[in-house]
Amino acid sequence: MIRCHALLVGAVARAARRCTADLQCAPVKLKLCVRAQRHCCGSPLHAVDQTHTMEEINNNSVSTRQEQSTTQQMNTTKVKKVKKAKKEPKRVAGQKKKQKEAESTSSLMAELPFSSTEVWKELGFSSADSSVKKKRKRGDGARVESEEDGEKKKKKETARPNYFVSVPITNPEIKQAVQGVQKLLLEKDCRLSRALIPVDTLHITLLVTHLSTQEQLDLAVSTLSELESPLNALLGGHRLLLPFAGVAHFKQEVAFVQIAAGEHLSTLTLMAESIRKAFEERGIASGDDKAFKPHLTFLKLSRAPKLRRQGVKKLDLALFSEFEGRVFGDECVCRVDLCSMLKKKSADGYYHCEKSVSFGVKKAPEDEELVSLSKRLVEDAVLRAVQQYMEETQQNGSMLKDKGPPGATGKLPSTK
Ligand code: C5P
Repeated sequence: MIRCHALLVGAVARAARRCTADLQCAPVKLKLCVRAQRHCCGSPLHAVDQTHTMEEINNNSVSTRQEQSTTQQMNTTKVKKVKKAKKEPKRVAGQKKKQKEAESTSSLMAELPFSSTEVWKELGFSSADSSVKKKRKRGDGARVESEEDGEKKKKKETARPNYFVSVPITNPEIKQAVQGVQKLLLEKDCRLSRALIPVDTLHITLLVTHLSTQEQLDLAVSTLSELESPLNALLGGHRLLLPFAGVAHFKQEVAFVQIAAGEHLSTLTLMAESIRKAFEERGIASGDDKAFKPHLTFLKLSRAPKLRRQGVKKLDLALFSEFEGRVFGDECVCRVDLCSMLKKKSADGYYHCEKSVSFGVKKAPEDEELVSLSKRLVEDAVLRAVQQYMEETQQNGSMLKDKGPPGATGKLPSTK
């Protein structure tokens, strides 16, 4: 028994020396030492633990061989613990302190005779490793997740287009025809009403982009202004007419009126490409990497998310079959707008325009030009009349000479 006590006191003393050496975790270690000592000395506060401890003390005191094997066991446990600690994955800088504390606590426990028992757990010394692990799971894991989420959200937000360059549909005939189709669709399925595009906003998209600052918006406005002359040159003074006929869809989610095939499509594509190039050259990226496919959208399911919840995920193509050969009319491309997707619509129901450029429309002549033009026309007319008169008079004169009585002269007759 005395030997046992001597052994315990030795272990506790060694542990205490370590406690003093490691100032960083001094409070924890000292607490541990005090608790251990109390435990060994049979504090009445730990009556239950004492029984457990005494059993072990008795076991230790059976023989010297047993003591030696216990010491060996202790050493093995210690080595195992050290090995275990080495296997631990690297921790981030902020956790190093806690890990150090936990490791020194566990090595301290290994020094004590009950290191392999559950006594420490019962005393409230849960495994430091596990507590660090638990904290890492709750703390760091959650933090990393929220940062990633934030980044994803940010990316999504920055990528979402908020401006677009459009060709507005101004021909009332096309608007009426589209409205007719929309009405017939609603008769077939009234749930689609929220997915319909208001006819006053009908347009052909040439480019979509995301402009996040006023500077970017100003740059986009000036870019479009500078495009007025090149786009006019591209049209070569001709009117660009787009004939709308038939309907089609994108992934059964977007329904649109098609533009009939022809040279006009190439010209429109060239226009869209010039705009995209000019924007990109100024650092304004296109918000869409799809190939340009001009279309006139009149219905899109994304406008009505409720429909999806109601089970309408795709358009029933049978609804559109009767419009396949429908002719909607022609639109003259005489204006291109930079529009906001989010700003309040203008009074006429069309998008808020930041900038519009017009082309293919000749300037009205000034008043002075008109006066000089009319003068030239009058002078021209007078000249031609005089010429005609002279010719006729000459003809009449020669006729009189031929047919007239003898002695008649070749003088011009008077008009009066
Ligand atoms: O530009 P607009 O509003 O007409 O586009 C309607 C929808 O059609 C958009 O949601 C767009 O993503 C989609 N679309 C598509 N494939 C294309 C062009 C547009 O799915 N080639």
